[in-house]
Order: sequence, then structure tokens, then C-alpha cells
Amino acid sequence: MTALWCVVPAAGRGTRVGGDCPKQYLPLAGRPLMLHTLERLAAHPRIAGLLVALAADDGRWPGIGTLGGKPVLTAVGGGERADSVLAGLRALPSGVGEDEFVLVHDAARPCVRSGDIDRLIDAALAGDGGLLGAPLRDTLKRADAHGRSTLTEPREQRWRAFTPQMFRRGQLAAALEAAAREGVAVSDEAMAMERAGFAPLLVEGAEDNIKVTTAADFALAEFLLSRTK
Ligand code: CTP
Ligand code: MG
Repeated sequence: MTALWCVVPAAGRGTRVGGDCPKQYLPLAGRPLMLHTLERLAAHPRIAGLLVALAADDGRWPGIGTLGGKPVLTAVGGGERADSVLAGLRALPSGVGEDEFVLVHDAARPCVRSGDIDRLIDAALAGDGGLLGAPLRDTLKRADAHGRSTLTEPREQRWRAFTPQMFRRGQLAAALEAAAREGVAVSDEAMAMERAGFAPLLVEGAEDNIKVTTAADFALAEFLLSRTK
């Protein structure tokens, strides 16, 4: 059984939540949001270790060195999520080969299900990688500058992208480096890989793998935490 390292970008400011404290350190069910995410990942039998990308001025990291018997390493993240992921990839132990698959999972997604991680690994291992996501459920509208609907977009073949995303260490680092060099802001790993000519496999995962984004999401995530495993 292959065990993978997981890079966890956790260097954001949480501007959409607001306030002084970055969202990954705000309490969820009484403990920092990020701790739930890290514990869930570390508890997964197919995850070998965690590499957490932290903001350069992060004064809140509790100095965790192991979780559930797995190593937890840190790196200094960057200005954009993609910079943080790249910093994490570079800081992985040298024993993680360039051709080995690694996972990337947002610190802000504490409700990811263990079974979905398994399904992603099983499905993506056979090819060049993939990501959890879900087909679009709602009708999609194109808005004009005044917030009026001008067009209904087709829903077919449209997916929402979640994390974890899973790619080979070397290919993902090269794809992120190329995007940075070309000045293209990539919002996730799959976008960098698409630009590099890959077609990441979309693996359907549970919709409750939410990214805690606004203050209101904390109550929802708290509710979902106890219902997802
Ligand atoms: N992230 C990161 N480095 C950045 C920006 C984001 O590591 N420069 C991380 C966040 O900490 C989070 C994940 O990427 O775990 C997803 O990003 P997002 O939900 O956008 O978090 P923030 O950027 O912190 O929030 P906002 O966009 O509202 O400021
Ligand atoms: Mg952000």
C-alpha cells in the first residue's frame, strides 16, 4: 500500500472571514480549524506525513512535530496559494521522489472524508493524477456588471474543484513553476497541470468537503464535522 505525503497550504490571511486572526486558527468546535484538518489527514492510513505551509509572520503555529505518529514538517508559504504549495513541495523530505505522488489539501477543508481520500488515491494512481470535485448541481448564470443575468451557462461537464488534489511531485512543481514564470495565477494544482498539458482525473467526492470561506461557514463546518468521517 502506497502512503503519500500531503502538502497543506495554510499561509492565507482569511480576508473573506475578516478580523485579525487568520481563519485557520479560529476556533471550530473549540479548537483551531486547521487542527481538525491536520488530525483528519494524519489519521489516514495512506498518508505518510504532512508538510504545512505557514505564513512568514505566523506567530500562532503550535510547533507540532508529529500527529498520530506521522511527521509534521513546515515551510514558509508565499503570497498566493500556488506559491505556498510550491514552497511545500520544495520542502518535502528528499526521500519523496520526483515521480512519487503527493496530495495537496487546503487547511480550510476540515470535513474531508477518509473514504473520499481513498477513492481519490485509488483512481488517480493509475494515471497522471486527479482531484476531488463534484458536478455542478445548480443552474449557472452569467452576470453583467449590474448583477443581472444575461446568459445561462450549460451545466453539463461543469465540475466544482475540491481538494485533496494528487499529482507527481516533480510534474506538479514544474507546472507551478511554469505558471509563475509566465505570470499566470493558478487557483488550484489541476489548473497548473492542465496548462502543462495534463488532463487530471475528476473524482466525485462528497459535497460537504466545504472550504471554510466566510464567518457563516464555521457553524456549517461544525455541524458537518461530526457527520463526516
Ligand atoms: N493559502 C496559502 N497561501 C496563500 C493563500 C492561501 O497557503 N498565500 C491557503 C489558505 O490558508 C487555505 C487555502 O490556501 O488553507 C485555500 O485558500 P483560501 O480559502 O482562499 O484562504 P485564504 O486565502 O486565507 O482566504 P481569503 O481568500 O478569503 O483571504
Ligand atoms: Mg484566498
